[in-house]
Amino acid sequence: MVSGTLVIIPTYNERESLPRQIAGVLSAAPEVHLLVVDDGSPDGTGAWAEQQEDPRIHVLRRDSKQGLGAAYRAGFAWGLDRGYDLLCEMDADGSHRAVDLPRLLEAAAGDDRPALVIGSRWVTGGSVVNWPRHRHVLSAGANLYVRLALGIGVHDATAGFRVYRADALRGIVLDDVESQGYCFQVDMVWRVLRAGGVVVEVPITFVERDLGASKMSNAIIREALVKVTQWGLAHRASQVVGIVRRR
Ligand code: GDD
Ligand code: MN
Repeated sequence: MVSGTLVIIPTYNERESLPRQIAGVLSAAPEVHLLVVDDGSPDGTGAWAEQQEDPRIHVLRRDSKQGLGAAYRAGFAWGLDRGYDLLCEMDADGSHRAVDLPRLLEAAAGDDRPALVIGSRWVTGGSVVNWPRHRHVLSAGANLYVRLALGIGVHDATAGFRVYRADALRGIVLDDVESQGYCFQVDMVWRVLRAGGVVVEVPITFVERDLGASKMSNAIIREALVKVTQWGLAHRASQVVGIVRRR
């Protein structure tokens, strides 16, 4: 059994959802600690989190909305500094079910010592509940594009329900990760794989939120499309250089 697990929850205006998510996580996995990374939510999410007296709940408050990638970079640095062995990512809005967390943690403690365990919507047994059609198309399309552009076998590289081993994160220079939005997730998969880390996908049921609103935007989609294309082209170019050199 791996000890010392930190579940990082980034928040922006999740005052309605967060209490339920935290209660769910602590009931499904009472041994974990939580870190809420709030970007100055106008709705008081950060203030609420700070009022909690449970010693397992920690809060990192930032001044302004700086994107999912920046929030996770800060959360990872916080957790690595404090010596947690496993660092998890989870959304605040209930889409990532706390009841699925123990299965992800079990997989992370498996004999193949995965660098990264992904709670996956797009492997056999995984599913999405209550998503509008355009989100289905966007996620399936994005993941197909990622697989083809980067030539990887991961089926849900954009997923935000994850467990990282601390030693794998330590091998990645987090300050070099520039992705601001949700393509941070793809960026990290790509870095873990290139560092030789094992990635395991565990099927989950993703349930669309019933409170609050998604922060997905056209700017987030654009950043992901541009970055994945750049990484793919750079990768192909380096493969060609490798072939030429071998000759
Ligand atoms: N601190 C902080 N700063 N938190 C943020 C920010 C930000 O700029 N943007 C989003 N979040 C938080 C939200 O408050 C929520 O807890 C979580 O990140 C996910 O945001 P949602 O807006 O609910 O994402 P989604 O449901 O549209 O997207 C889901 O699918 C994406 C693509 O597959 C999530 O699972 C994402 O993690 C995933 O990348
Ligand atoms: Mn969501």
